[in-house]
Amino acid sequence: MNERIRKQYGSRRRNLMRQMGPDSIAILPGAREVIRSRDTHYPFRQDSNLHYLCGFPEPDAVLVLIPGRSQGEFILFVRDKDRAREIWDGFRAGPEGAMQDYDADDAFPIGDIDDILPGLIEGRDKIFYSMGAHPDFDKSLLSWINHIRSQSRSGALPPGEIIDLEHMVHEMRVIKSAEELKLMRKSAKISADAHVRAMQVCKPGMYEYQLQAAIEHEFADRGATGPAYSSIVGGGANACVLHYIENRAPLNEGDLVLIDAGSEYQGYAADITRTFPVGGKFSKEQRALYDLCLEAQLAAIELCRPGRRFHEPHEATVEVITRGLIKLGLLKGTLESNIETGAYRDFYMHRAGHWLGLDVHDAGDYKVDGSNSEWREFEPGMVTTIEPGIYVHADNKKVPKAWRGIGIRIEDDVAIRKGEPEVLTHAVPKTASEIEQLMAGSAA
Ligand code: GLY
Ligand code: MN
Ligand code: MN
Repeated sequence: MNERIRKQYGSRRRNLMRQMGPDSIAILPGAREVIRSRDTHYPFRQDSNLHYLCGFPEPDAVLVLIPGRSQGEFILFVRDKDRAREIWDGFRAGPEGAMQDYDADDAFPIGDIDDILPGLIEGRDKIFYSMGAHPDFDKSLLSWINHIRSQSRSGALPPGEIIDLEHMVHEMRVIKSAEELKLMRKSAKISADAHVRAMQVCKPGMYEYQLQAAIEHEFADRGATGPAYSSIVGGGANACVLHYIENRAPLNEGDLVLIDAGSEYQGYAADITRTFPVGGKFSKEQRALYDLCLEAQLAAIELCRPGRRFHEPHEATVEVITRGLIKLGLLKGTLESNIETGAYRDFYMHRAGHWLGLDVHDAGDYKVDGSNSEWREFEPGMVTTIEPGIYVHADNKKVPKAWRGIGIRIEDDVAIRKGEPEVLTHAVPKTASEIEQLMAGSAA
């Protein structure tokens, strides 16, 4: 593990322990393998919170933090070494590796957790743990606590409170460090180049899955783990299905194709959408809606600055898109009435963005002090997507035929910093003429 990253894990754990205070213990189970079919598994991915705090990459690990414990504050339970299993499934660090390579002060085989963890909990007043996320582990934890309680007459002290751990870690994850931003830039660049590749190879008669293959080939070829989420490649009216992942249809001359795809690089997601003409040239109607969507996106990016609040970019997109749709005759009435009644939602039914980081829909609150209060202010180090869309459903009889079946979304990843926002995904063209030039080969 790179020395700087190793130091970061340590400082994150210390920061979390400072917030937990004395007489406490944090317990964080990592991810487990998930069966895909019979005896084969989905590719393993570590739980983002456990990864954030120590980088341990194996299944069945449990991280424990005990601030002020004299024999060591950071404990890992991990799979034990097992020669036979390692021949079939690969290397295991084992408890020794967990100490040597991941800086655990103490480490134990996961099989011994029932014997060891109750003793570590006993005497601690507060448990930081997220109930509900791991139902099997919840049951074990309650049985350990009950066990301690049953021994209270011999002086054992059960904990008094269980406090949500996830929320604390999530709030740390909202602000990205310089090191994290470097990884996010890299993930963004790989993904941007993959979208450029898709524009370059696209031809009428190809299938959606072939563009998916071009995109995901670039991810893998550049060292990304793979897609950060299921790639969406929707030709024509398929672009109006927000989470379309079938990607089986042919791509027709005259249609647009929407690609929403991003890589995961060293744990960090990118999330890009581009929409372009299958045959390389926008029709008049496609171009009008595309330019409007882009105008909304640019207006929203402008508002990604410290001190602005999370909902402001979204509201800017609603205003620009609604005004534009009225001008094009797709909505009737005034700007105010369309916004007030929500009529614009026939064409734009999702929000303009979400936090991005280790998870594609990343951790962190969007409002401060509970759900009824104010939207959160942007701060340097936050990363959000900006992704307005305009979707004219094929069965929308309220608009002339020429508009129907057009779906457009334009999505970039934006880091908040002092002054100008940083568009991490700037390397993929986005104006209609840049895209047409690229597809014609002149800018390739
Ligand atoms: N690709 C998921 C999203 O854009 O939110
Ligand atoms: Mn997306
Ligand atoms: Mn997104």
